[in-house]
Amino acid sequence: MAFYHNYFEHFHQTGAIAPSGPKLAKHVVSSAGVKAHSHVLELGPGTGAFTKDLERTLGPDGRYLGIEINASFHTHLQKVHPELHFEQAPGQDFDFSAWVKQHGQFDIIVSGLPWAKFPEELQTSLLENVVPQLKDGGTFVTFAYTGVHLLKPAKRFRSLLDRYFAKIERTRSVMLNFPPAFVFVAEK
Ligand SMILES: C[S@@+](CC[C@H](N)C(=O)[O-])C[C@H]1O[C@@H](n2cnc3c(N)ncnc32)[C@H](O)[C@@H]1O
Repeated sequence: MAFYHNYFEHFHQTGAIAPSGPKLAKHVVSSAGVKAHSHVLELGPGTGAFTKDLERTLGPDGRYLGIEINASFHTHLQKVHPELHFEQAPGQDFDFSAWVKQHGQFDIIVSGLPWAKFPEELQTSLLENVVPQLKDGGTFVTFAYTGVHLLKPAKRFRSLLDRYFAKIERTRSVMLNFPPAFVFVAEK
């Protein structure tokens, strides 16, 4: 579908040539411990690879905010998930104060952002803006492509997580994703 060319065209932002597969989506959502009443922030939902599973798991009682920088992806997400709330913005600049005032802090942050593509300043400004919105004891999950995690920016991001989170675990790799990926599960 022409729409998915966006992934390749905007490679500097997507950091991927295609959306994540359904096996990785299930693994991300279950690793995050999402439940029916959870309050979830999704960073970089893209074309909604994780959003579908998040919406199914949250059901009508969950609360969801998705922050997507890409205007076409944002329009698509609003069309496909009319019950969920999306904002088109860079995650590092979005002002969460009105949302948090109304809904409280998040239980869970699910990140689809390509951290290994980001310079250190962007990695830091994103974490500085989103981690304060997560409850103490809340969970932050993000995926990394197996192998790419050995590159310098990916290692730098892994070290940054130590600065913001009390406990960080790494899951098994999902080999049936293209490319294979694993998940970091971090507790605040
Ligand atoms: C690797 S894609 C992942 C999309 C989807 N979660 C998946 O796994 O298929 C990264 C997504 O993050 C978005 N993105 C990149 N930088 C961003 C930023 N600073 N703030 C918000 N979204 C961003 C991109 O537009 C893209 O949709």
